[in-house]
Amino acid sequence: MIKPPWIRRVRRALLAAGATAALAAGLLTATATTSQAATQGPCDIYAAGGTPCVAAHSTTRALYGAYNGPLYQVKRVSDNTTKDILPLNTGGVADAAAQESFCANTSCVITVIYDQSGKGNKLTQALRGHWPGPAEGGNDNLANAFEAPVTVGGHKAYGVYVAPGTGYRNNNTNGIATGDQPEGMYAIFDGTHYNGGCCFDYGNAETTGNDDGNGTMEALYFGNSKGWGYGSGPGPWVMADMENGLFSGVNTRFNDIPSVSHRFLTAILKGSHNQWAIRGGNAQSGSLSTYYNGVRPNATGYNPMKKQGAIILGIGGDNSNTGAGTFYEGVMTSGYPSDATENAVQANITAAGYNSGSTSTGSLTPGSRISLKATTSPCCTSHYLRHNDADTKVVISPINSASAATDKADATWIVRAGLANTSCLSFESANDPGQFLRHSNYQLYLNTDTGGSSFAKDATFCPTTGNSGSGTSFQSLNFPTKYIRHYNYTAYIAGNGGSNAWDSTRSWAQDASWVTASPWS
Ligand code: AHR
Repeated sequence: MIKPPWIRRVRRALLAAGATAALAAGLLTATATTSQAATQGPCDIYAAGGTPCVAAHSTTRALYGAYNGPLYQVKRVSDNTTKDILPLNTGGVADAAAQESFCANTSCVITVIYDQSGKGNKLTQALRGHWPGPAEGGNDNLANAFEAPVTVGGHKAYGVYVAPGTGYRNNNTNGIATGDQPEGMYAIFDGTHYNGGCCFDYGNAETTGNDDGNGTMEALYFGNSKGWGYGSGPGPWVMADMENGLFSGVNTRFNDIPSVSHRFLTAILKGSHNQWAIRGGNAQSGSLSTYYNGVRPNATGYNPMKKQGAIILGIGGDNSNTGAGTFYEGVMTSGYPSDATENAVQANITAAGYNSGSTSTGSLTPGSRISLKATTSPCCTSHYLRHNDADTKVVISPINSASAATDKADATWIVRAGLANTSCLSFESANDPGQFLRHSNYQLYLNTDTGGSSFAKDATFCPTTGNSGSGTSFQSLNFPTKYIRHYNYTAYIAGNGGSNAWDSTRSWAQDASWVTASPWS
């Protein structure tokens, strides 16, 4: 039988990664009869290694060479209708343009992340669990569909941006490991977006939504929580959430695993009886490192494991939802994958070509970094809109090339598609990821995106020609007569006349007009 080229490539990758010739030949022969895919995906490699995917989730690309079904579903706010987003071609990258045209002039959330494995293990909004959810009804929020832009192989795509309060789950799965059964999993995260909350997880959890005791979960965790286990340096770390504990190795607290913060991070966890491992690497290049490989944590309840087989994304097993992170793709397998198989998956991931969404600077393009210069003369033309370090207020202050690095970073913003309307804009802090410029009681603050619709509106501004005739003004989405304005060196949304001191008509037009400048950091 003549093997198609992708089979030869998988075999070469497995052999290069350390598989025996017999293993590669035997498993690949079995696979060759069942797939005509022109290219291979991570799940083709896991299948060839004898540990097939039983869940395969991605909003950015197909994870099988032969997959051409829906990747995810978005819902638009204007009329509550939904649309499935498919790959551009079989085995390819997501059709981001379809999302952009469906969501134009409104905003969209990600409602479903489909399971490409054929097991039906899709992820949908996580419902209230043991841990109380946020104010909006107790269930978790859905991710804004535009908050995590990337390119994959040069094609635009969107990841799943998990602000605290956001969560996805499936409590009724098919084929996921239960009890002490072996399994593996990987995910690609944004290594620069994390926090210390509990728990930005992806993997196996309780089907009840409750904390059902030690050993009832086996999920990847990413963040810098020190509440349970931790590793070397300041974090973040890839750890294992096995319930009532985030583990970095055999010791229940400290184990010498490195902090890892690659912009695109491959994170791997696998467990089989009294054996488990954490691995990881840069999803853009290079190979995997093994951070831990050994026996279960030195505490009661984790051997044997009592996995229940639900799948979570962005939350802990009991729906603890104060974690933050960004997810691009991830799979769970049946069986304990070999290191060689995972090494071949890493080669596939680096070849896929993940890159940041936009590297343009000095313009109001989502993904670009900017600084916003005040235009009021003579007081303020060397002042920039920035957040304070000591509190959450947003102010203006002079910034120049000799300014401290922290001041420069405080005056730098990442332009985002408007959280509440994609034809407008939001501004994320360059040095406090996940925190956005928003108004509250008409004053501007830097606050963490809680994922709710009120926050989204308060953090969305529509650019217009500068009120003074030059530069740009930023109109509040939910108070359209008010624009971002500095007054007495503090930032507000202000009308041209009104009941608040900062609505003063004196120099309103200049105070409310800004120059989009190159980013200070
Ligand atoms: O194990 C850490 C967390 O503890 C779990 O994710 C959660 O279920 C519990 O609160």
